[in-house]
Amino acid sequence: MLPPPQIRWIEHAEDPARNGVIDLYCAVFAEAPYFEKHDLQDVERHTWCRFAQHGLVVAEHHDRVVGFACAIPLTAHPDRTIPTFVAAQPDFSAEPSRTVYMAELGVSPAARGLGLGARLVDARLAWAHERGLRWFVMRTDPDQSLSARIYQRRGGTPLANLQDLGMVAGSNSRYRRFWWGPTQRPGT
Ligand SMILES: CC(C)(COP(=O)(O)OP(=O)(O)OC[C@H]1O[C@@H](n2cnc3c(N)ncnc32)[C@H](O)[C@@H]1OP(=O)(O)O)[C@@H](O)C(=O)NCCC(=O)NCCS
Repeated sequence: MLPPPQIRWIEHAEDPARNGVIDLYCAVFAEAPYFEKHDLQDVERHTWCRFAQHGLVVAEHHDRVVGFACAIPLTAHPDRTIPTFVAAQPDFSAEPSRTVYMAELGVSPAARGLGLGARLVDARLAWAHERGLRWFVMRTDPDQSLSARIYQRRGGTPLANLQDLGMVAGSNSRYRRFWWGPTQRPGT
């Protein structure tokens, strides 16, 4: 049996996982329901470099990147529509300043269905908890999310209102559902 992928945190933007993460990001978000087209340099600037300064975790199998996930304190998110929208929701009752935003999550198609997405989510929940962030928020497609179940099983609750992204990033998925819930102590 093959060993499971190794999970590790990126510490600086010069890490050799850079190209693997960028290529995988473009591939997974080109799939349904998002059908996004991304420029490699934009992904490097806005995802890789940005999250390498906050929280970026990768899963590797024999040095090949097979998964990634990003995290950032909600109030530090440079896209101000995200903390503004969340803080205005009547059914969001956590403290924004103690909330982590669970940003991108992707697993290569060949590695799916084996629990890797869940491991990457757990790694981020523990990372956030260690930093005093007691709640998480994430957003996803409202109807065809492949990730919502992972968060639901970890105590996540959907917010009632949808965010309308307009035609951002050429995504075919225009609306986003936010989920929020507790972070977790490492090892729980
Ligand atoms: C979402 C994604 C990261 C899940 O990765 P994964 O490694 O397959 O997830 P896991 O194996 O940990 O599965 C986690 C749970 O989701 C369920 N799940 C996974 N894929 C599913 C699918 N296609 N349809 C329905 N449920 C699915 C699993 O059954 C599991 O539920 P369980 O704990 O009740 O058994 C992966 O499908 C992906 O990269 N998708 C494309 C990018 C994307 O949609 N990212 C999320 C944006 S918000």
